[in-house]
Amino acid sequence: MPRDAAVRTARDVVFVDGVRTPFGKAGSLYAGTRADDLVIRCIRELLRRNPTLPPERVDEVAVAATTQIGDQGLTIGRTAALLAGLPKSVPGFAIDRMCAGGMTAVTTLASGIAFGAYDVAIAGGVEHMGRHPMGEGVDPNPRIIAEKLVDPSALVMGATAENLHDRLPAITKERADRFGLASQEKTAKAYAEGKLQPDLVTMAARDAEGAWTLATVDEAPRETSMEKLAGLRTPFRPHGRVTAGNAAGLNDGATACLLASAEAAAELGLPVAMRLVGYGFAGVEPEVMCYGPTPSTEKALARTGLSIEDIGLFELNEAFAVQVLAFLDHFGIADDDPRVNPWGGAIAIGHPLASSGIRLMTQLAREFAEHPEVRYGLTAMCVGIGQGATVIWENPHYAKENL
Ligand SMILES: CC(C)(COP(=O)(O)OP(=O)(O)OC[C@H]1O[C@@H](n2cnc3c(N)ncnc32)[C@H](O)[C@@H]1OP(=O)(O)O)[C@@H](O)C(=O)NCCC(=O)NCCS
Repeated sequence: MPRDAAVRTARDVVFVDGVRTPFGKAGSLYAGTRADDLVIRCIRELLRRNPTLPPERVDEVAVAATTQIGDQGLTIGRTAALLAGLPKSVPGFAIDRMCAGGMTAVTTLASGIAFGAYDVAIAGGVEHMGRHPMGEGVDPNPRIIAEKLVDPSALVMGATAENLHDRLPAITKERADRFGLASQEKTAKAYAEGKLQPDLVTMAARDAEGAWTLATVDEAPRETSMEKLAGLRTPFRPHGRVTAGNAAGLNDGATACLLASAEAAAELGLPVAMRLVGYGFAGVEPEVMCYGPTPSTEKALARTGLSIEDIGLFELNEAFAVQVLAFLDHFGIADDDPRVNPWGGAIAIGHPLASSGIRLMTQLAREFAEHPEVRYGLTAMCVGIGQGATVIWENPHYAKENL
């Protein structure tokens, strides 16, 4: 029925399903695999898992990548949609907000759904950091440095993490290492209990020599100890605090998720894994970009009328331990609070930049299903050049059992 343009009502947006490839170490498992093939595989898997969705009902496809050249270029949302077998009538576009690219693909499409422009949409993210190392092809305007718009260290993410350690001396290297160790331990436990596997789509992977393997699990998680972590180099500063053990690594991988209006999900028989409550993006000084998730979360909470106490589960991207610890300190949450990253995070699993936001959401959706006592959950991450991104979700299982 045509809607009266003068009387618009925002529509409820739901997260139907999310998937991801296993994440590889940069240039290892997927060295000979095209980046676009990773996200295409995710889109195909979403369609396979949701057979009641007629592909022609997908109204838009937005795929994020930080480095949009080569096999991550050519308006990847459009080309990936075509190559995934969606009808040619389905449009698509590319999106970039560095690490929060996938998260921004979700909020952009969700806003379009709420506005009434789409009923069903697919958001994705991909980063092949082996094929496209961070900073590939960038040409920063010399004014940025010459006019002291930002500190030169702002362009090196690990250096911004060291800067945040400087500003927040209560976050010691020992605390960051302990958080890194916990991430590995929680991920190992989650794998042992079969919690992470349902999100993964197996991927035919080609290594650097052209040999094929089947990727079924993340490549980066590893066993470690406080002693081993204490001995690691601090590559971003002599005698610094940031190491390979308390930072996310360099990774290759992709994610995708299906979003719909609540009405379209009901009409098409699509499951509702989460309901979007609201979101917030915020800018901070670029040289301490890891602080970003704190103001973006304050903003998202204020706009949704929620308080931090309302949040029962947190999926915080672990680009660096100091980033999560700064967030936890700000909100008075303990480092080992069981609501935070219960299945580990990017320090263990990996962080293929633009894809990670949808990994956080996909994982939160599964945690919601296990926790009907939790009503609200939050996904948040820091973003290069000084930003934070936060999306708040409601648990439909709570609504069923407790309302
Ligand atoms: C931190 C960083 C520089 C490390 O890169 P790297 O040196 O290539 O990392 P490696 O995996 O080779 O690890 C370095 C060493 O630490 C060891 N190591 C890594 N993690 C470990 C752990 N958890 N426990 C024990 N040892 C570990 C490795 O085995 C390796 O040892 P070796 O030198 O004896 O081979 C890199 O991962 C990085 O830049 N991360 C941040 C990415 C980023 O900025 N993302 C964007 C965020 S906004």
